[in-house]
Amino acid sequence: MSQVTEYSEKVIDHFSNPRNVGEIENPSGVGTVGNAKCGDIMRMYLDIDDNKVIKDAKFKTFGCGAAVATSSMATELVIGKTVDEALLVTNKAVMEALDGLPPVKIHCSLLAEEAIHSALWDYSQKSGTKIDGLKQPVTDIEETEEFYKMQEE
Ligand code: FES
Repeated sequence: MSQVTEYSEKVIDHFSNPRNVGEIENPSGVGTVGNAKCGDIMRMYLDIDDNKVIKDAKFKTFGCGAAVATSSMATELVIGKTVDEALLVTNKAVMEALDGLPPVKIHCSLLAEEAIHSALWDYSQKSGTKIDGLKQPVTDIEETEEFYKMQEE
């Protein structure tokens, strides 16, 4: 992917008109992640059926425009996928779907990937479903400060 220095039309569209904003009541999984450096927070809700298919996804993001756009795109990408397929929706996949992000904004897309993983982890814990390759998220909001302290050391 070539380097982009400004926001693509898709990023601007998803920021100005974000899809799937909101909450899901009694979600199958919910995850909240944060970036301690910029203070932005993202919460992702998933509704998953008995066949492990994501029927619905909603998000709330208190953050920058790129974080809003990436969470919006991330929900669009995971809806209709199985939980195993959703694990493959990486920040790179989200960025590609948005036609790229300026380099200084790449960390914002990581928040979207982490939010998906965190919600999937919550689902797997609650339902007792094993998702191969899914690791316990390290940037759960409670752990965020510690995580970044560790990174800086
Ligand atoms: Fe914090 Fe974008 S600046 S997520």
